[in-house]
Amino acid sequence: MTERKVALVTGGGSGMGRATSLRLAGEGRAVAVLDINAAAARAVAEEIAAAGGTALAVAADISRREQVRAALAEIRGALGPVTILVNNAAIENFCPLGELDDETWDRLMAVNLKGFYIVTQEVLPDMEAATWGRVVNLSAIGAQTGAPDMALYTASKGGIIAMTRSLAVELGRKGITVNSVSPGFIDTPMARRAIDGDLFPVPYEQIVANYPIPRLGLPEEIAAACCFFASEDAGYVTAQVLGVNGGAAV
Ligand SMILES: NC(=O)c1ccc[n+]([C@@H]2O[C@H](COP(=O)([O-])OP(=O)(O)OC[C@H]3O[C@@H](n4cnc5c(N)ncnc54)[C@H](O)[C@@H]3O)[C@@H](O)[C@H]2O)c1
Repeated sequence: MTERKVALVTGGGSGMGRATSLRLAGEGRAVAVLDINAAAARAVAEEIAAAGGTALAVAADISRREQVRAALAEIRGALGPVTILVNNAAIENFCPLGELDDETWDRLMAVNLKGFYIVTQEVLPDMEAATWGRVVNLSAIGAQTGAPDMALYTASKGGIIAMTRSLAVELGRKGITVNSVSPGFIDTPMARRAIDGDLFPVPYEQIVANYPIPRLGLPEEIAAACCFFASEDAGYVTAQVLGVNGGAAV
């Protein structure tokens, strides 16, 4: 039987974060669904509770340390110490480099990289005390292949891959594994915003038609990979970057 451990999923109110929260709860974890969008987090927590699972919705902006601290105090009080962390929350940006402005750069990096650093650092004492922890970080295929108009976003995701590897090396002796799931083109609200906004150089159907598996990925397919890295079974797996991308990058 799965030992009941507490999981925190950032950006748990939408897309892959929602799917991962639901799956972790289905596996018997108590799940803290954290999102800047309080209503979205609440809806996912209610969905988990309705299915018989245990969940807590918490509203916080991961780029704000005081909000993350307050959220963790609430989670620890209600569910206990956090030993599974899925760093999933992020924002996207499509912009040619020449048109990028400093404000956009700073906000995206504050959420995608600094937010990742803040949440991981704040959760770490719980994992160290348990001498057991699982950190799963969502990167992106674009950080591995490059993507037009996405230099800023892919830079942040390249940072996630680099930090995954460094933290894995730093924390392995403490019983903590750190891995990354690198999604390809996944059918979530984030991807739909880009499709609806006509932000790709060619229609998305044309992009996915060239993949070995010629379709968009599903959030549930990312959740499955996240839950493997979060499992007891993955205790000897660390510092890895798993592409879940239909074969779009090898
Ligand atoms: N959808 C794709 O095709 C794709 C591809 C590669 C990588 N990714 C990555 O996968 C992860 C999940 O993406 P998704 O498509 O499910 O996105 P999404 O936009 O559907 O969901 C992201 C969630 O994060 C929350 N969030 C945003 N900023 C936040 C903040 N500052 N603090 C707390 N919560 C915040 C949002 O409110 C939202 O609920 C992200 O890291 C994304 O960069 C997505």
